[in-house]
This record gives sequence, C-alpha cells and structure tokens, in this order.
Amino acid sequence: MHDTLKKEIAVYERRTPKSAQAHKRAEQRVPLGVASNYRGYDPYPLFVRQGKAGRIWDVDGNEYVDHNLCFGVLMAGHSHPAIVAAVEKALQMGTTFGMPHEMEWELAEEICSRYPVDMVRFGSTGTEVTMHACRLARAATGRDMILKFEGGYHGLHDTALVSVKPKAEEVGDPKLPNSVPGGLGIPKKTLENVVVAAFNDLDSVERRFREHPHQIAAIILEPIMMNVGICMPQAGFLEGLREITTRNGSLLIFDEVKTGAKLAWGGASDYFGVKPDIITLAKAIGGGMPLGAFGARRAVMDLISEHKVFHGGTYNTNRVSMSAGLAMFREVLTAENYAHVARLSKKLSDGYRKIIDKVELAAYVTSAGANGVLMLYPKEIRNYRDWLEIDQDLWRQYWFGMVNRGVLPQPFWWDEQWTISVQHTDADIEKHLAAFADLAPGLAKVQHERGAQFIGAAH
Ligand SMILES: Cc1ncc(COP(=O)(O)O)c(C=O)c1O
Repeated sequence: MHDTLKKEIAVYERRTPKSAQAHKRAEQRVPLGVASNYRGYDPYPLFVRQGKAGRIWDVDGNEYVDHNLCFGVLMAGHSHPAIVAAVEKALQMGTTFGMPHEMEWELAEEICSRYPVDMVRFGSTGTEVTMHACRLARAATGRDMILKFEGGYHGLHDTALVSVKPKAEEVGDPKLPNSVPGGLGIPKKTLENVVVAAFNDLDSVERRFREHPHQIAAIILEPIMMNVGICMPQAGFLEGLREITTRNGSLLIFDEVKTGAKLAWGGASDYFGVKPDIITLAKAIGGGMPLGAFGARRAVMDLISEHKVFHGGTYNTNRVSMSAGLAMFREVLTAENYAHVARLSKKLSDGYRKIIDKVELAAYVTSAGANGVLMLYPKEIRNYRDWLEIDQDLWRQYWFGMVNRGVLPQPFWWDEQWTISVQHTDADIEKHLAAFADLAPGLAKVQHERGAQFIGAAH
C-alpha cells in the first residue's frame, strides 16, 4: 500500500470511530460484519445513520453527497416524497395478502408500455428475476446451456455466479474463457451448463455456438456491462448477438436490472434499438423497496400460463413494493426528471474531464443515463480482461480520498459506478467536483510515480 493511501485511510479511521465500533460488534454475529459480501471492505465499512434526498449521514454524524445510493437502486434519491406517500398509504391498507390485487395489472401495464414485452411477472430481487428468466429460456428452447459474458453479474443463483470475478490465473483463453465458479457450493454440473464468452467479441460468441450446436438456450447479458465500472457495447455488438441468437434458435435475455430504469425511458433495448426476447428489471424500479420483474412476448410467458414453467413467491406483488413501483414509474421516472439527471450527469462528467486533463491523470470518464464512472485506466475498456488491469490501490486512494472530503463517489469496489438521483442538486454536483479537484493532483502524482502515462481525458 502506498503512503498517500495509508494517509487517506488514517484520516478515514479518525473520522469514523463509531463505524469501526459498530463493525467490530457486528462481526461477532454476522459473517464479515455485513449483510452482503459486497458491503464489506478494509479497514471497515461506514455504518449509516440516515439518508435524505441526495445525502447520507454516518453514525459519527459525517455528511456525504451520496452517489452510492444503495448500489444504484435509488435513482429516486432517499425518501422521495412520492415514494414515501405511496408507501405510507399502502401500509395503512394492508401490506401483503398472497392474493391478487389490481396494482398487478396496473404495474404490468406501465412496464409493457415502456419495454418491448407483452406480459410480466413480479418478484423482489434481481437475482430472482434473472433466475426465472434463465429457466424460462431453458423451457422455451428445450436446451440446458446458458451463455454469459466473463465479468457479467446477474445475481447469486448458481447459473449466474459463474465467471463473475475470476482471478487472472483462472480465466484461460480470452476467446473461450473458463467457466469459473464464484465460490464454493456451485455444482460442477451447473458449470457444465454455463458457457462463457468475451464481451464485445462476436467471434468468441460464435465459437461457443459452434462448440455446442443446438444446446445453448440463451445469452444473458447486461447491454452495458456495469460490473466492471461501465463497459459500453461496441457498435454492432448487440445487433450481432440478436442475429446470432435468432439464427441458432436461442433467446436473448437483457438483464436490465441496472439499465432498465436508469439508462433511459425505455431502458437499454429502447436506447440501443435492439429487441431482446426476455427482459429482467429490479433495483431502481422499486424506488427503494424490493421489487423485480421479468417479461417477454406472450408466447414465452404462456409457458407459465400453461403450467409448463413454475413461478411463485410469497412476497410477489406485496402492496408496499407495488405502490412504490407505481409511484416510481408515474411520478419519478418522468421525462422532466430524466432531463434533470442528464443535465447533472453532463455537468459532473465534463467537470471530471476538465480536472483529469488539468492534472494529467491517466484515466477517463464514461457516463450512461444516471450512471457514470471514473475509470483509472488509460484507454476505454472493452471487456473484463481490460478491467483486470485497473490500478486498485490508486482507486482506493480515490474512494477514501473522496469519502474524507464528504462525497461517496460510488459504492466501494472499483467494479461499480456512480448514480445520480432525481433529488441531487447542482450544489451536490459542485461539492462532488470540488472534492475531486482537491484530490486529483495527488492521484496523478502517485500514478506517475507508478509509471502510468497520461493520454488525454477525451473519450
Ligand atoms: C445486472 C444485475 N443483475 C442482477 C443483479 C442482482 O440483483 P439483486 O442484488 O437485487 O439480487 C444485480 C445486482 O447488482 C445486477 O447489477
């Protein structure tokens, strides 16, 4: 660990003793002291007291501009008045029934009007809906294999937890990456049914289809891979996947858990003009309540109607989440709010680029809808293997440095990205940029000492 990073961590520890204490206590009862492995990091995570609009406060009382926003869930920002009102009303009317109610049709209508699907079923999490999407694709094709991309994240079920973050020594041939389990407990038989290809490389995908003729049920991907910062699909890549899947009788699943609400009005399929067979949604559509959905054309969803594919769930369409979802689509994901977020996003990205150029940092900024990211890499990444090269200690210096200056620039981990909420203000973005302007010369200095070359920020 380099000296400047050590100093930033020392400042973090001085500012946050109550988080340290809370973490120490939690570790006794909760593995890693956190409820999801993604939330744990050294020396310890911040413990939160409260959130409001675009800001949060930790248990020591420090205030932060929040661009973590629960791993991008809160495009609505914290406690958006429309979500609060909808949820409060729902709480008074009974939270969950295990029986149908009219909001199911209402929310399905909202979803079908924005995304290219005819029918929808609901769940609570992204993991759940990508699991059902994979099963549906297997049922629709009578095939067992799923093709996913190295570095792609689709949740925690066995099929999804393959080659999410394989180590450099495990990955194998760049064109034909190994299927690497994301931890113990994933059956070997499952691994045999998950083949992995390289993102932005149609040849790699074609080779998988040639290797396994008539065996691949579907390709699942995030149209913009957001588990490696932000990795944009290169021109023709999504269209190529559409063509390959159609030609091979497979389905195309767009995992729009992140992009569905935050990229644009109609999600990535609308933004890129490529129509998948199945779409999965979660995170931002619930406005902070657990809500997921998967949809497809009628013929595919009819597998459920005809009792050929089973789908259920006790908490499906609980009224609290459904109310929040309806408020989200009707009152938060409006054209005006997309325009507000786009304006702030441009202001933030342009501001970062100016600072990067000024201090000659070998880095670039990418943004897509409400998301954006500082990539500490000299050229645009195209796949997981590029992302593996990112200077992790320099990124830590960035993250702790920003936190010490009152800004959570994104969730911890260099595979994430920032989210701008509809409640963020110009003042929030200015505070974010002021913190980065203060920090950036130190980042550039350390980077140059470590041998990286500045190539210009204009990407
Ligand atoms: C693209 C994508 N799919 C699926 C998931 C899983 O969602 P959840 O954490 O709600 O299970 C995530 C979570 O980060 C995600 O980013």
